[in-house]
Amino acid sequence: MKLIFATKNKGKLKEVKNLFAGFDLEILSLNDLPDAPEIIEDGKTFEENSLIKSRTIFNKYGIPVIADDSGLSVEQLNGAPGVYSARYAGKNATYKENNEKLLRELSSFPPPHKAKFVCCASYVDSNTEIIAFGELHGEIITEFRGENGFGFDPIFVPEDYDKTLAELFLEEKNRISHRAKAMNNLRTELLKRRILRYKI
Ligand code: IMP
Repeated sequence: MKLIFATKNKGKLKEVKNLFAGFDLEILSLNDLPDAPEIIEDGKTFEENSLIKSRTIFNKYGIPVIADDSGLSVEQLNGAPGVYSARYAGKNATYKENNEKLLRELSSFPPPHKAKFVCCASYVDSNTEIIAFGELHGEIITEFRGENGFGFDPIFVPEDYDKTLAELFLEEKNRISHRAKAMNNLRTELLKRRILRYKI
């Protein structure tokens, strides 16, 4: 079975290929589709944005699609930056600018700055739509630590860890991440509905 993962992000693609290894699947990404349409992520929730991605790509190619949408939600900021995580400090903001804005916003609040990463994974084909969630709880710290990962990783320490996500090896992050959990939940549902089958 052919499946499109609606992303251009090579890191995410690697993660998802790994999770779906052992299944009867050929996974393509938007990098394999030169005429891929632009996706306007104007939803108000992770679920809406995830479905916008999977529906847009399914409507164009007619091949089953998986997509994800994710972000950071900080308790003292009433859930911000949420769906605006990628563009928190402006449209083309760098990860560093987004992190600095977050620390500025948090500077008037006492620690701990409790936060969670959220991911909504979705699957769309001609007669099915499935959504699945994953979360990673932790706290925002006020110094940058570590070189790995991306986004808010250098200032996010997961619960029960003393390292930031950017100080963990990729394999370790991928074991606990919101994205891995959401994709695992999606995989379980796809197996239950017999959409996904093991390779024989
Ligand atoms: P998207 O799901 O690719 O649209 O990601 C949205 C934004 O959320 C990213 O640009 C990051 O700022 C943030 N984000 C999502 N997942 C992670 C993560 O695993 N680590 C750090 N930042 C993340």
